[in-house]
Amino acid sequence: MSQIELIDKTKVPQHIAIIMDGNGRWAKQQGENRIYGHYEGVNSVRDVVEGAGQAGVKFITLYAFSTENWNRPKEEVDALMELLVATISMETPQLNKKNVRLQAIGNLNSLPPACLAELNESIDLTANNTGLTLVLALSYSSKWEIISAIKQIANDVKDGKISPDEISEKNIQQYLCTKHIPDPELMIRTSGEHRISNFLLWQLAYAEFYFTDKLWPDFRKADLFEAILNYQNRERRFGKTSEQLTNP
Ligand code: IPE
Ligand code: IPE
Ligand code: MG
Repeated sequence: MSQIELIDKTKVPQHIAIIMDGNGRWAKQQGENRIYGHYEGVNSVRDVVEGAGQAGVKFITLYAFSTENWNRPKEEVDALMELLVATISMETPQLNKKNVRLQAIGNLNSLPPACLAELNESIDLTANNTGLTLVLALSYSSKWEIISAIKQIANDVKDGKISPDEISEKNIQQYLCTKHIPDPELMIRTSGEHRISNFLLWQLAYAEFYFTDKLWPDFRKADLFEAILNYQNRERRFGKTSEQLTNP
């Protein structure tokens, strides 16, 4: 039996978030420059997005570029931005063919104008697709997102649109970039690092974490299925006891 057949279709996470890490180390292992690793990483993205659709996942968020990544050497940042534009324009027909809707979260206005234009075009061209939603986290960091939300809430309080008493978990969610996206049930990070690097701090509050030593360019849909199977063997208690879950 292949791994996808072992997946319980009634317990597939609706939303999987992935920190795609290890491109640079992968390239170094091949005796190549870091940028080569980013190029190879695109093949993993294509395969994993296809696998997510096949498994019945509804949302997949890929951490592609963090706020902190702007501090990398200029030539790497420029190469990543170019790769992003090239990939988005090249892959849009395939996204449409596979019924995938593209979205993006992050400080998108900080992206180079050509990159943002390409991104917006692809978002528009795929807006009516009804299958998987692929969310790219670009120039994203959770602290940036939370600060933006707090500023908006403060302004809305000042303008009398909401009262401080109305601020609640639900309400805060409406001020985040992910307001139309359910929280991830599963977060995967490749490359053996065990940290979340400023990714979806609020949204991952109750997510299951799955770490693998594989470097991102080696990660394929079979690895995604393995992560889903691992997730399906966990007991999500949400603060309750195990007995409460088995005998409600
Ligand atoms: C992840 O791979 C891709 C981005 C952060 C853009 P890295 O570039 O971080 O690769 P390592 O972690 O240095 O190996
Ligand atoms: C996290 O990876 C960001 C992305 C995958 C886009 P990094 O490689 O930038 O994270 P740190 O700096 O090792 O925590
Ligand atoms: Mg890294």
